[in-house]
Amino acid sequence: MKILVTGGAGFIGSHTVLTLLEAGHEVVVIDNLVNSVVDSLERIEELTEKKIMFKEMDLLDYEGLLSVFAEGRFDSVVHFAGLKAVGESATEPLRYYRNNVAGTLNLLDCMQETAVHRLVFSSSATVYGASEAVPLTEDSPLEAMNPYGRTKQQIEEILSDLSASDPRWGIAVLRYFNPVGAHESGRIGEDPKGIPNNLLPYVAQVAAGRRDKVTIFGDDYMTEDGTGIRDYIHVMDLAAGHIAALDFLVPRTGIFRWNLGTGRGSSVIEVISAFAEASGRPIPYEVGPRRPGDAAVSYADPTAAFTDLGWRAHRNLSQMCTDHWGWQEANPEGYAKTADHAPPASCL
Ligand code: NAD
Ligand code: UD1
Repeated sequence: MKILVTGGAGFIGSHTVLTLLEAGHEVVVIDNLVNSVVDSLERIEELTEKKIMFKEMDLLDYEGLLSVFAEGRFDSVVHFAGLKAVGESATEPLRYYRNNVAGTLNLLDCMQETAVHRLVFSSSATVYGASEAVPLTEDSPLEAMNPYGRTKQQIEEILSDLSASDPRWGIAVLRYFNPVGAHESGRIGEDPKGIPNNLLPYVAQVAAGRRDKVTIFGDDYMTEDGTGIRDYIHVMDLAAGHIAALDFLVPRTGIFRWNLGTGRGSSVIEVISAFAEASGRPIPYEVGPRRPGDAAVSYADPTAAFTDLGWRAHRNLSQMCTDHWGWQEANPEGYAKTADHAPPASCL
């Protein structure tokens, strides 16, 4: 298939682009590079020895986007592009709603205009809010607790309405749990700007000596060691989930929702220990107050994805930490200081 990937230069997008290329698909990436660099795509070209067509493009540029669709003749779209920082979404809600919701509306309009009706959308377990009823199934109530989460929930509603309005659409909504890790080569990985918001990238930077210690956000939850439990999933397993969803959609229409998680929860203390083991480095930590809005425990029931798609996560926490560390150690400052200036990705 010829597939348009929005946000394909980012963390999950880049690993999925690599997996799509390896599966024999032709890939066109659009990204405005607000949270990524084109080096990720250059490295994927090196790893796969395949070309990626890249266009620097903002989803809010409707005319530009339409011209990409008019030229592209795409079979499917995989839509990662979005802003994702929870705290920032509370201080800049309009920017988040405009970028994520209005950007998605532009994308859907362009798809409709050019008769492209197959879409895989990046949603998040954040749509379940702080639900105490675990494991979370696709039928668990949706109650996003912050503007970022509400952009995802609203886009899911828009997609449901769109599917109901026109039977030609085939839509997969993938609710990711906590994506971590990196490609086993250590050449591509997560490159957060500034201080990481999420646990794994923060722990990795402590292991690398870039930060002094991890602060554990509360150790008085009703869990075995008192720290929060999450369902960490290797980004390469997640990438494979997109291929499975696309394959599922090819002969079908309608809208489908799947949790992509391992079904296994790990505590903050377990993650720190696993990372120390994988990296061979000490990870100093201290216990601080709870982070507002955090659930005690969140993990997926991934049964539906296995039943419908035949997909399941294969890599365990140790593998996630090993691969995350492989990337972190080889690229201590992310892409910025280690790019070896390969030829640029091809331009449309
Ligand atoms: P990321 O920031 O690394 O990737 C998102 C990409 O989208 C970036 O390259 C960014 O430059 C691009 N982008 C943002 N707004 C754009 C716009 N208006 N036009 C064009 N490009 C734009 O994030 P990620 O971790 O790879 O996440 C990918 C998707 O998965 C996002 O939609 C995110 O909300 C969702 N998600 C991520 C996580 C996670 O923990 N990483 C969890 C659940 C869901
Ligand atoms: C966060 C977001 C969620 C988003 C998800 C994946 C919030 C409230 N939620 O969820 O919307 O979908 O990331 O991007 O921000 N922790 C520490 N110390 C740290 C960082 C985290 O103890 O420095 C703990 C947290 O309290 C939590 C666990 O580690 O128990 C995982 O945190 P994180 O990686 O931020 O993911 P989520 O909390 O699941």
